[in-house]
Amino acid sequence: MIRPNYYNGIIERYRDRLPVDEETRVITLCEGDTALIRLENIEKEIGLGIELYAKFEGLNPTGSFKDRGMTMAVTQAVSEGAQAIICASTGNTSASAAAYAARAGIRAFVLIPQGKIALGKLAQAMIEGACVIQIKGNFDDGMRIVKEVAAAAPVTIVNSINPYRLQGQKTAAFEIIDALGRAPDIHGIPVGNAGNISAYWVGYSEYAAVLPATASCSFCEERCRYPSAAVVQGRPRMFGYQAAGAAPFIRGEMVDDPETVATAIRIGRPQSWDLAWAAVNESGGAFASLSDEEILKTQRMLAEKEGIFCEPASAISVGGVLRDVKNGTIAPGSLITCTLTGHGLKDPDTAIKQSEGPVIEIPAELDAVKRAILENL
Ligand code: F0G
Repeated sequence: MIRPNYYNGIIERYRDRLPVDEETRVITLCEGDTALIRLENIEKEIGLGIELYAKFEGLNPTGSFKDRGMTMAVTQAVSEGAQAIICASTGNTSASAAAYAARAGIRAFVLIPQGKIALGKLAQAMIEGACVIQIKGNFDDGMRIVKEVAAAAPVTIVNSINPYRLQGQKTAAFEIIDALGRAPDIHGIPVGNAGNISAYWVGYSEYAAVLPATASCSFCEERCRYPSAAVVQGRPRMFGYQAAGAAPFIRGEMVDDPETVATAIRIGRPQSWDLAWAAVNESGGAFASLSDEEILKTQRMLAEKEGIFCEPASAISVGGVLRDVKNGTIAPGSLITCTLTGHGLKDPDTAIKQSEGPVIEIPAELDAVKRAILENL
């Protein structure tokens, strides 16, 4: 029975713009349709006529934007008869791969850097039944090994080098335009392996009916379609932000020992190097880096001022655009959207470590509670 108002994920919603057909068995967890939250309090503080929104991708079923790409990649893998998928991950991809594999009834192998992934992400991959392989190395080591394994064994890679991942992830750009009725002037986004910034650029370009210079890439050699009618005029300038200790795009070369508190983007050798450069260059945007201190400060600010709890890697997009507004790189009056890529609950340890809010221990008595409230009003 078809229930007309039942939301069933990004593939159903954007079916005519994705590489699926009538016969395809769609593997979905009803991902997408995430909130685009206006950052009212921060807007008031910065002034300058800035209109600022956060696309809170932490609201996806496994708590990160990866689900948009994973529904598409796993749907495709299953339609090709795959029995197993594999990825290297700083955590979120592994959680998402594990969930969609469970949904599809296939096996997931995930390679993660030992001791360097947030606890929530590890818990997800474990309970979702993935085979979790911890390596004594970083994400880039894992990525290299995964490519070698997949070349020799019948497993499908579901990292963002899989073009179907980017096809799914481009739908976030569609949702932003559908919500605003126009393209933003500026889009700020965290950059790690660089798949997401590339995917947004494809999405924005597609809605503007403009073929990006990267059209010769695998996106468009696949069954990707560019309907000729534009939904909007114009595309945003793409601003990609990296952690200072893991900033190959700012350094202009690969980084051997990436390090940052934002473990999700602790990556030195981004796979979508050319696509991400194309997104920034074609759009007239830029790459910039933020220190760990700036990242954590922004994470706390979003929580305290707007009630939005995102993970450290996500906060970098808002921290980056605010700095670029202050230093004049972003013009007054701009309409800015930022992607908050993952939920703060993924990484409770980092949040607790940097929280200043009082945790008061008292006896379970009315007077003690009253006193505690009065002292902290
Ligand atoms: N933000 C979060 C929360 C992430 O988990 C990632 C990537 C990014 C931003 C960067 O996105 O790689 O498309 O540039 N996480 C991957 C993972 C690498 O394994 O979960 P990107």
